Amino acid sequence: MERSPRIPRHVAVVMDGNGRWAKNRYMPRFFGHKAGVDTLIRAIDLFADRGVEYLTVFAFSSENWKRPADEVSGLFGLVLVAASKYLEAMVSKGVRIRVIGNREGVSEQLQDAWMRAEQATAHNDRITVLVAFNFGGRWDVVQACRHALASGCSPEDITEESFARTLTLSEVPDPDLFIRTGGEMRLSNFLLWQAAYAELYFTNCLWPDFGAEEIDLALASFAARDRRFGGAESWSHGPDATG
Ligand code: IPE
Ligand code: IPE
Ligand code: MG
Repeated sequence: MERSPRIPRHVAVVMDGNGRWAKNRYMPRFFGHKAGVDTLIRAIDLFADRGVEYLTVFAFSSENWKRPADEVSGLFGLVLVAASKYLEAMVSKGVRIRVIGNREGVSEQLQDAWMRAEQATAHNDRITVLVAFNFGGRWDVVQACRHALASGCSPEDITEESFARTLTLSEVPDPDLFIRTGGEMRLSNFLLWQAAYAELYFTNCLWPDFGAEEIDLALASFAARDRRFGGAESWSHGPDATG
């Protein structure tokens, strides 16, 4: 199927609002996070059906360690369970899973579960889902700098292109559409470098309520944008598009 330039190839999502969703129901925050995982599983299928090739989702930020210990351990437990509970479904639905972020502070048990999920889905090609866990945009830039210094490269060797190759999402095109649910209009240290020319979309919808209708609203908003990438003419595909 010929892909439409009005469909983003790569969508990044800050899945925010789980806590408020639970609070609205007089339930503990964990209940919201649990509902949020189910919403993500459905959203993967919906984005794939609409032709999105890469979906990067913010699951746990470098700063989320500031939350109470029981919420942090609840989130880690949830992710561990989800990594096996939904694995078969992801394999059969053609979803390729990758986990990105700082592995420091993440248990071996969880890292093993991710490795299994990555290996089991490595050959799928319907959609690639990048789960950002213990991820921060600033962490990503700093780890790339460390790489550059450790490889002994000199200042003049560093270009935007060479630097971008050491960033976490180097093999993935930059996000075209950056969605944040939950009503806040900030990036919260998500993809800082990669989102340089992403179209931003904010909605008050709380993440657990983000279903087909909301996805279609976000995609319709993207389709109506006039992307220029600094130029005078609008680009329908993006500066690095071929054909
Ligand atoms: C986002 O929902 C999920 C994570 C940060 C893991 P929140 O937990 O931030 O929900 P709100 O913003 O408090 O409603
Ligand atoms: C961003 O949400 C992180 C994730 C969704 C994983 P936060 O709820 O942590 O962001 P702030 O604290 O409101 O900026
Ligand atoms: Mg929040």
